Amino acid sequence: MKKWGIVLWVAVLAMVLSACGGGNASTEGNGGGGGDDDKIVIGFSMDTLQEERWERDRDLFVERAEELGAEVNVQSANSDDAKQIAQAENLISQGVDVLVVVPHNADAAAAIVEKAHEAGIKVLSYDRLIKNSDVDLYVSFDNERVGEMQAQAIVEAAPTGKYVYIGGSDTDNNAHLFKQGAFNILQPKIDAGEIEIVYDQWTKDWNPANALANMENALTANNNDIDAVVAANDGTAGGVIQALEAQGLAGNIPVSGQDAELAAAQRIVEGTQTMTVYKPIRDLARNSAELAVKMAKGEEIATDTTVNNAKIDVPSILLDPIAVTKDNIDDTIIADGFHSEEDVYKNVE
Ligand code: GAL
Repeated sequence: MKKWGIVLWVAVLAMVLSACGGGNASTEGNGGGGGDDDKIVIGFSMDTLQEERWERDRDLFVERAEELGAEVNVQSANSDDAKQIAQAENLISQGVDVLVVVPHNADAAAAIVEKAHEAGIKVLSYDRLIKNSDVDLYVSFDNERVGEMQAQAIVEAAPTGKYVYIGGSDTDNNAHLFKQGAFNILQPKIDAGEIEIVYDQWTKDWNPANALANMENALTANNNDIDAVVAANDGTAGGVIQALEAQGLAGNIPVSGQDAELAAAQRIVEGTQTMTVYKPIRDLARNSAELAVKMAKGEEIATDTTVNNAKIDVPSILLDPIAVTKDNIDDTIIADGFHSEEDVYKNVE
C-alpha cells in the first residue's frame, strides 16, 4: 500500500513537471521552436553575464516572457564575437520565433541580423545597438544622456583640473554614446581652459582589471597629479578606485559610474565613488519581452523615435536614466527595491 502510494506520487510529480515544461522553459538547451507549434520561443543572445546587471536583465526578461506564455532560450557568449554569432546561428536553426541580441560587437553582430532575416526571424537589439544592419527594433536607455550625467556630476565636484576618461569597450556602441555625452559637458570646459584631459582610454571588454591597469598608467604618467575621473560604468569605476586606493587617493578624487551595482552603491555611501547612473532594468527587460512576443506574432510595434545605425533609422524606444549620488540614493535605488538599505549601508554606521 505504502509502496504504491510512493509510485503514484512520483508519477503525479513527473506529470506536473512535464506540464511545466521541465527544466527547459527558460534556460539553455531547449528543443527550439519545433517542439510545440503554438508556443512562442524567444532566442536571447547575450554578450556576457559579467556585470551584475545582466543577470537581472536575463531573469526579468525570462520572467515576463514566461508570464506571456513564451519560452526563452538564453545564450551568453563571454565577450567572444565568433561564439556569439555561432550561438545565434544555432538559435536560428532551431527555429526560434524571434531573436533578442545584446551584441558584444556592434558591427560583427550585423551578420546575426542578416542570417535571422534570411530565415524570416525578426531581431530586437537589446540595450546595445547593432550597427550597419536592418535590425528591426532597438530598446535601450538614452545613453548619451547617461554620459552627460556622469560628466555633469564630476564637473560639479571638480570644476577645474586634470581629468581622466576611462571609457567602456570600443566594440560596444553604448561606450561611444557615453563618451559623446560626457564630452558634451567636458568640451566647453576644455575649450575654456578649465579642464585638461590628461588620459583617455577605452576598456577592453569593459573588464575592471583593464580599467585598473589603465588607471595605474594614468597615475604614473601624471605623478598622481589627477583631479577627477569620468569612468563609464561601475565595473570600470571599481578598477579606478582600486588604483586610487593603492596610492591613498580614494575618496579625494571624484569618480563616476553607471549601473547602480551594489558595490558601487556601497562605495557611494562610503565616499569613494561620486555617483552612478541607475537604469531601471525592470522596465527595459519587461518591455522588451512584451515587444519580442509581439514581434514573434507579427504585430505592429509603436515606437517614439529612431536611431541611425549607419545603415537605417532603427525604430527605437529609449528609457530615461537617473543620476544617483549620496543625496538621492535612498529615494531611487533603495526606494525602488533595486538594493536593500541594509545591503547598501552595510559598511557604514
Ligand atoms: C553597456 C551597458 C552598461 C554596462 C556595460 C558593460 O553596454 O549599457 O549598462 O553594463 O555595457 O556590460
